[in-house]
Amino acid sequence: MPPRRVTTSTIRSMKRRGERIPMITAYDYPSARFADEAGIPMILVGDSIGNVVFGYDSTIPVTMEDMIRAAASVVRGANRSLIVADMPFMSYQTDAGTAIRNAGRLLQEGGAHAVKLEGGRTIAPVIQQLSDAGIPVMGHVGLTPQSVHSIGGYRVQGRSQKGADALMQDALAVEEAGAFAIVLELIPAELAAEVTRRLRIPAIGIGAGVNCDGQVQVLHDMLGLALDHKPRHARQYADAGALIRQAIANYASDVQTGAFPGDEESFFSSGPPVREGAAGQAASLSERCA
Ligand code: KIV
Repeated sequence: MPPRRVTTSTIRSMKRRGERIPMITAYDYPSARFADEAGIPMILVGDSIGNVVFGYDSTIPVTMEDMIRAAASVVRGANRSLIVADMPFMSYQTDAGTAIRNAGRLLQEGGAHAVKLEGGRTIAPVIQQLSDAGIPVMGHVGLTPQSVHSIGGYRVQGRSQKGADALMQDALAVEEAGAFAIVLELIPAELAAEVTRRLRIPAIGIGAGVNCDGQVQVLHDMLGLALDHKPRHARQYADAGALIRQAIANYASDVQTGAFPGDEESFFSSGPPVREGAAGQAASLSERCA
């Protein structure tokens, strides 16, 4: 029996049951398989692909084609997780018709189950139209990286009373427009707790403290693969960067010394030479180098 797919209703019922929701990003088939097999209920194909995979200094250059290709790879790798794909910069901000067409492409061509878009009250009418068109939407308020140039940098949002009030209004507008969940990025923990308490939909935090309904992290930050910047809100669970560097250096050295490939990685027309023990290894090596 194939495993039952997590749905937006599953995610909403997790909030009702007080079950915390772990979410991480994935951008390709292997990372999606790892996340799915680890039991992550919801995977984000984030436009952070622009930063951590493509090496851009923001998410702004990411295109619909980039997101569709990434979403399709992630969907192929995940049997159970709900796949949410980010709508890239300028794929939804101009008008609802463009937003519906592009969100439709992420579902039809990318195979995603839901889309995420950034913004509060100003974007709520678009969220409403997408929801009316049957497209599940996740909202995203607080630090909205696609607006980095108008915000003036990657900084904590909602610190002042006025900012906190505006953020609360934005989150409520996103819920009212029909979003099934919302990301709260880089806001004070107290404010995130209050927003989470006021919302009926799950609030998934990143740099928003522990009292959200769930947490989302960028995979490369968690694995030690984010090369240019390690955000303070991220916890590194592995140093895959160090492992990869060491593995590649070992490979290069094995090629240089002739230790790779060995007989077991080679093909012979009449079977491998029969040798035993260390002597056999040495003979094999000198033969290959001769
Ligand atoms: O693109 C992304 O990875 C995101 C998360 C930071 C929430 O939007």
